[in-house]
Order: sequence, then C-alpha cells, then structure tokens
Amino acid sequence: MMKKVRHFKTLLDINKNEFLSIIKRAVELKKLQTNNEYPDTLRKKIMAMIFKKNSTRTRISLESSMSKLGGHAIYLSSDSSQLSRGESLADTAKVLSGMVDIIAIRTHSHEEVLELSANSTVPVINALTTKFHPCQLLADMQTLYEEKGQLSDKKVAWVGDGCNMCNSYINASKILGFHLNIATPHGFEPDEETLKNASDTAELCDLPGKAVEGCDLVTTDVWSSMGDEHDHDKRKVLFKGYQINQNLMDKANESAIFLHCLPAHRGEEVAAEVIDGASSRVWQQAHNRLYSSQALIEFLLNN
Ligand code: CP
Ligand code: NVA
Repeated sequence: MMKKVRHFKTLLDINKNEFLSIIKRAVELKKLQTNNEYPDTLRKKIMAMIFKKNSTRTRISLESSMSKLGGHAIYLSSDSSQLSRGESLADTAKVLSGMVDIIAIRTHSHEEVLELSANSTVPVINALTTKFHPCQLLADMQTLYEEKGQLSDKKVAWVGDGCNMCNSYINASKILGFHLNIATPHGFEPDEETLKNASDTAELCDLPGKAVEGCDLVTTDVWSSMGDEHDHDKRKVLFKGYQINQNLMDKANESAIFLHCLPAHRGEEVAAEVIDGASSRVWQQAHNRLYSSQALIEFLLNN
C-alpha cells in the first residue's frame, strides 16, 4: 500500500503526541550536536526551498538542517525560477516531487501552500505565509519546554498584531492545551476561524496588562509583518499601548520568559530592556529553529 504523504501546512497537521515527540527529538538532536555528534538521518535526501519572501532564520535553519544530517538543500528564489514567468505552483510541485524528497515554501497567501501540497507527492513544509508560521512554533515550544517543562498547564500571553505568528500560537494552544490570552488593538485581531476552532484554550483580552497576568510566557511580533509595511505609520499610533516593556513584564509571573520570533524592532513592539534583559530567551529560541527543523524534517520523511 502507498504511504500517505505527510505535509506540514499548519500545526493542525500534527497531533499532540507528534508535536511533543518533535520537541523531544529536537532537544535530543541539540544535545548530540553540542557534543559534535551528527546522525546521518537525512543522508541523500534533498530539499527544494521556494522562497518568495525574505528570510534569515528559516532559510539558514532549513539549509543547515539538511547539510548537518547528511542531506542537501536547493534554494529557489521566485525571481530566478520559472515561477516568476508564470509557471504554476501545481506544475512546479509535480516536477519537483520527482526530483527531491521534501519541499519548503515561504510565500504570501496560504492558498499557495495548499496548491503546492495538493500537487506534491513529497512532504511540503510551510515556511511562513501571511496566515501561519508553524515552523517557528516548534522552536518556541521547544524553548518553553526547555525552560519550564510540561506545556499543557502553562499560560501564555500574545500582545500585539494578530498576525501569522499569533494564529500559529492559537493552533499550538489547541493542540498542546496551554492557555493563550491575546491582546491586540481593535481591527488587528487574529483569524476568526482559527480562534473559533481553539475556543477552549485561546481567548481575546481587552488589555495587555490583563493578558499577561499569571503568564509563564509573554510573546509578540513586529507591528508590521512582511507586506504590511505600507501602513506602518498608522500602526505605530494604534499599537502604542501594546509594547512589551518591563512595566508589562512585571505584571506577568515573576519567572515569566519573553520570546520573539525575530527580526525585532526595539522601541516598537518590544523595549530593549526586555529583549536584551534577564527574562528574554530569544537567542535560545532562534538557535532552536535549527534543531526543531531537523526534528520536523526527520518526522516528515520517516512517516
Ligand atoms: N523568525 C523567522 O522566521 O525569521 P526569518 O524571517 O529570518 O526566517
Ligand atoms: N509576522 C512576521 C514574521 C516574520 C518571521 C512576518 O510575517 O513578517
């Protein structure tokens, strides 16, 4: 019987046990590689990476993951491939499926990930769309797990734009069971359907101060995501009360940590005193992108 191909379009493509096993494997891979041990689990495997948006962490972590575990990655920017000359993602998927073992895509609309995965016979990884950023959540949850242990009993606050990162936090809360408070300015709420689907674990709060109360993790993202830069001046005014500064962190649990997927804008969504302060774990979080990517690729290729 043909094996069913597993895609990673959103976090909802994996269940709780799978999510936890990816995190635990990431921790294990980190330990091994800290001791200079590199398992050959991706030997001869090739990843094609279609990137229509800028990236530092995601690109490097995926390429590096493939190389470190014995495989190889091929970066395909949209302007240098036939995609920018009108070849469809469906046709691209059918071609690449016969040449590589796995495909990652970073693009604008989530529908493009759906089109690519529907036409691919190899696993497709969503490396960010305007709607979701599931890879980042694997690293965030790995970091929370390393810092605080069990995840299901934790309280998390999202303060800021209801963007792709916020939507993926909502999905993570649904799968893992932690409670998520969300404070966004009016008009910048997360995706309605995603929130409705996680109504047992995620809720909107009126004020940032209320959202962070009793929380173990406080997190945010830029006020203008890629593609939203045109109304940044307007956003700067509307988001003014949504900065994560020390005053806000003091309202969370004393041992609360701060995470940010990066890149960050100090003085906007986060004050330097927080991102560069004692509660920040953003560098650990960024480094965990490498190990959580490795664990994800192993998981998708071994299923
Ligand atoms: N956090 C993240 O995805 O960073 P990049 O945009 O640099 O990949
Ligand atoms: N919300 C941000 C995340 C960048 C990693 C964006 O989409 O630009």
